[in-house]
Amino acid sequence: MSSSDVTVVILAAGQGTRMKSRMAKVLHRAGGRALVQHAIVAALGVAPPERIFVVVGHQAEAVREVAEAAGVRTIEQKEQLGTGHAVLCGEAVLSGLGGHMVVTVGDCPLIRPETLRALVERQRKSEAAAVVLTADVPDSTGYGRIIRDHNGAVEAIIEHKAATETQRAVKEINSGIYCFDAGEFWRHVRQIRPDNPAHEYYLTDMIGILNAAGLRVAATKIADPGELLGINDRVQLADADRILRDRKTRELMLSGVTIEMPETVTVDPDVIVGMDTVIGPFARITGQSVIGEDCKIGTCAILHDAVLENGAEVFAFSMVSSSKLGANAHAGPYARLRMGAELGDSAHVGNFVELKNTAMGAGSKSMHLAYLGDSRIGSKVNVGAGTITCNYDGKKKHPTVIGDGVFVGSNSTLVAPLALEDGAYIAAGSVITENVPEGALALGRARQVVKEGWKRKGN
Ligand code: UD1
Ligand code: CA
Repeated sequence: MSSSDVTVVILAAGQGTRMKSRMAKVLHRAGGRALVQHAIVAALGVAPPERIFVVVGHQAEAVREVAEAAGVRTIEQKEQLGTGHAVLCGEAVLSGLGGHMVVTVGDCPLIRPETLRALVERQRKSEAAAVVLTADVPDSTGYGRIIRDHNGAVEAIIEHKAATETQRAVKEINSGIYCFDAGEFWRHVRQIRPDNPAHEYYLTDMIGILNAAGLRVAATKIADPGELLGINDRVQLADADRILRDRKTRELMLSGVTIEMPETVTVDPDVIVGMDTVIGPFARITGQSVIGEDCKIGTCAILHDAVLENGAEVFAFSMVSSSKLGANAHAGPYARLRMGAELGDSAHVGNFVELKNTAMGAGSKSMHLAYLGDSRIGSKVNVGAGTITCNYDGKKKHPTVIGDGVFVGSNSTLVAPLALEDGAYIAAGSVITENVPEGALALGRARQVVKEGWKRKGN
């Protein structure tokens, strides 16, 4: 949906003092992404990645990493001398690009790609050298005010500090988001002067400058002013997080997912959930999780980078990270699957069972209290309560291989490296240190001793 003649510049060099943080503001997260990532995702809705530029300054390296991970480019602004200066820092690379140049900010995570697209379309269709995205707000304190002429064109943007009483009464504010005709922008940008009390180069001065050059500037009011919520402190960060989570859960519900008490549920933006899946209260599904159809995710379950095939169920209070459940597999309540654990189709693990880097074949079960690490477990295996794979000797990790149809009795200790071949049977309470061949019974415990007629002395 992006156009090859559109460039987006994302201003993200500021520190964000009111966050009271050691971390740059745009790196704080809401709705499952860093603030600057939201700006990048919106930008990708209008421009190809090679034409998206993040202006970095505070913690430039960390912000650059996020930009690069998203496949977009960066411009460095070493000193923050104002929004106009921020764009000027990219002159060498930007001024040759032509077409339309959108300027937006890194700390407004609710801006939708559609909004930027509509802004670009407005500029494309109009004769205007620039279109400013504006909003009517009840309290315009602190914002730049939009000054229109009798034809409705924008004559100037006056910053709050420089505005007269009459100008301050204007309720239409500058969002800080614009679309410029790139050619006209670069032809005139050098006229911005830092002649204001803050000695900054204001991007907003471009509006007056373009007017003075005989060019027209238009404004377009945003359909939903709520999108302009800018993040300055952690209260606003939490507000944005709630709104973004709400957007995602609504989108899922409208696509056929049942979510109980959606206001308590967190689903990251990239997560995919299939039809007729039911998500319980307080569940968290994050990262790149992919949930199939007819799945159930219980109360307070936490899934990160999890893959659930159709009909899989994760019961209450379970954690599944970087792991996979096959069709109709079950985990929990209180199960933990991590580091590449995989349950085959219809495999079940129950309460207080932990699987780490362990694959369990179709129909296998471990229903209570077990640790299965670095193991390859076949199909139709029964792992008794309290079974532990001793995968770590204090220096190295070792694998356990369990064949199809093996029965591991309760409270068994399997000392790796170890292989239990198909159909092997491990007696309850065994400590198994040697491989067990196919179909064999292994007992590894002291024989019970009963002393008849024995009575405690003194009784
Ligand atoms: C700006 C606008 C104002 C508008 C408001 C909307 C100017 C002069 N004013 O004011 O009209 O109503 O946004 O929120 O543009 N940044 C840089 N480098 C800099 C300075 C800023 O990258 O040297 C970045 C900041 O990190 C921030 C964005 O630009 O993301 C906006 O800067 P900020 O200082 O917050 O501008 P405002 O005073 O809010
Ligand atoms: Ca601001």
